[in-house]
Amino acid sequence: MISIPVKTPSRSYEVVIGSGLLAHAGEQLRGVLENKRAFVVTVPPVRRRWAKVLLQSLTAAGIETTLLEMPDGERAKRLSTLEKLAEKLLKLGADRGATLIALGGGVVGDVTGFLASIYMRGVDVIQVPTTVLAQVDAAIGGKTGVNLASGKNLLGTFHQPRAVLIDPAVLRTLPSREYRAGLYESLKCGVIGDAGLFKLFEDRRRELLDRDPVVLEKVIADSVRLKASVVSADEREGGLRQVLNFGHTIGHALEAETQYKLLLHGEAVAWGMIAATHIALSTDKLDSVAAGRITNSVLGFGRLPRLKLKTANIVKRLRSDKKTRQGVVHFILPREIGKVEIASDVPEAIVRSAVDEIRKLARD
Ligand SMILES: NC(=O)c1ccc[n+]([C@@H]2O[C@H](COP(=O)([O-])OP(=O)(O)OC[C@H]3O[C@@H](n4cnc5c(N)ncnc54)[C@H](O)[C@@H]3O)[C@@H](O)[C@H]2O)c1
Ligand SMILES: [Zn+2]
Repeated sequence: MISIPVKTPSRSYEVVIGSGLLAHAGEQLRGVLENKRAFVVTVPPVRRRWAKVLLQSLTAAGIETTLLEMPDGERAKRLSTLEKLAEKLLKLGADRGATLIALGGGVVGDVTGFLASIYMRGVDVIQVPTTVLAQVDAAIGGKTGVNLASGKNLLGTFHQPRAVLIDPAVLRTLPSREYRAGLYESLKCGVIGDAGLFKLFEDRRRELLDRDPVVLEKVIADSVRLKASVVSADEREGGLRQVLNFGHTIGHALEAETQYKLLLHGEAVAWGMIAATHIALSTDKLDSVAAGRITNSVLGFGRLPRLKLKTANIVKRLRSDKKTRQGVVHFILPREIGKVEIASDVPEAIVRSAVDEIRKLARD
């Protein structure tokens, strides 16, 4: 069992990681949940496979637990889902002493976290992430949110969890495309701040793709450690936290350009990392050996979905990204493996050539 602290001005908590941990959730959470009622929020695919293990463990520890379901998928990440869950909570008698437990991927985590931050002006939340993406990224750091018709994550709050429990064994039932997509976020952590983690991706790729529990636990723990340290230093994305957006500037533009239908988030980030690496190489910030290693690592995880892109459209979208400040596009660029910098002075011609590069690689 590995325990990693997150220390932010609003709250400190532990991220506990261990294969088989779900069955020991009750013991782990006894302190946090003392005299509290727990309400587990999940989606049908996760309930079918994993809810029973969690519920049995909580009940055995004497914690009164109720299960609530929400619809699956990004389409359910809407304010209307929060309202329906809140009505259910009220009917079940949940008061200010309630604790919500998010059991699922990033969608469940974001919705449940948001709901917890506003239900009765705020109750506790515990994150129990069940996708790679949620384990290495979404469940840590306290960002919550839902989508509007006009854009993703436009409503949200910061609400740090009381605890995060990560059981890599639950990833066994994750569809393989989802599994791989999440790993790109973890590879991102290696590039931005942990050369050792990056090397694990190079040296243990086969085991990782086979979901080898030992390698997986190490990769997740290293990624969590990196995210925890960034979030601890910068809870509200003042500056440092931006480094987590490596691959995301162009990744977000690709997701939007393909109407969020063609690419999973992690896959868009994979293309975005290749593009950002190309920019770093073209601006002499990164040497060609390191650039080659990053690109090969991304591509080494198998074929990414093919795309038909128009470079001009991507460039236009970059200018209108919500993270663009005063029309200036910020890129997180690798200087070496394990070190990045924020650049706001990338010439448009170089951005174009990076998009051209992925356009060629991504063609059918
Ligand atoms: N809050 C943050 O800091 C943050 C960071 C990154 C991403 N996000 C958000 O996370 C969301 C994406 O999360 P995601 O990729 O986990 O998607 P997701 O929550 O939609 O899960 C993907 C699919 O996997 C299924 N699933 C989950 N766990 C499973 C398991 N163990 N076995 C079988 N199936 C399982 C889900 O039911 C779903 O169908 C996006 O909405 C994104 O905005 C938030
Ligand atoms: Zn991401």
